[in-house]
Amino acid sequence: MDKSDLGQELAGILISKDQIDARLDALAAQIDSDYAGSDLLLVGVLKGAVMVMADLSRKLHSAVTMDWMAVSSYGSGTKSSGVVRIMKDLDTDIHGRHVLIVEDVIDSGLTLSWLASNLSSRGAASVEVAALLRKPGAAKVKVDVKYVGFDIANEFVVGYGLDFAERYRNLPFVGTLVPEVYQ
Ligand code: IMP
Ligand code: MG
Repeated sequence: MDKSDLGQELAGILISKDQIDARLDALAAQIDSDYAGSDLLLVGVLKGAVMVMADLSRKLHSAVTMDWMAVSSYGSGTKSSGVVRIMKDLDTDIHGRHVLIVEDVIDSGLTLSWLASNLSSRGAASVEVAALLRKPGAAKVKVDVKYVGFDIANEFVVGYGLDFAERYRNLPFVGTLVPEVYQ
């Protein structure tokens, strides 16, 4: 799927495929060096983190394992509900493991702070976060995001895993929608 498939729905491309690729190269190098010699578990947050998990993990030179969680924080709208519910839990016992949560975007940070403390309480050796995107509201959250792809403005974005009402996840870039689509 590309820009030309969307007609008038897309307002613009915020972060291109090439920009994402280059940034993930840098993050992967950093992760490789930070976790050298340790056994790393990547925990992807469904469904938004699918693309960043797939691309980032393939850039790593270390042998990692992967697991997935699904939590609900948003309905089909564009505002955080503040309520986090586990829809799919990990298959892995993370006691003593080094865990890196892989997220698509941190907006209010509610989902992430809840998730990080939930995973820490299971006795993980460490819990860190890698997020493709971070919005300004995330500054209010106490959780440190160790690896950030891009800091973006406070606007609603789609593509590269991110949806609006489950659409646009398969765009290879991050873009913005014309307001008519979600009004
Ligand atoms: P938070 O709890 O407000 O940080 O929300 C995080 C989650 O909300 C993300 O993992 C996304 O699923 C969703 N979300 C936040 N901002 C956007 C956006 O701009 N586009 C699509 N989904 C978003
Ligand atoms: Mg998400």
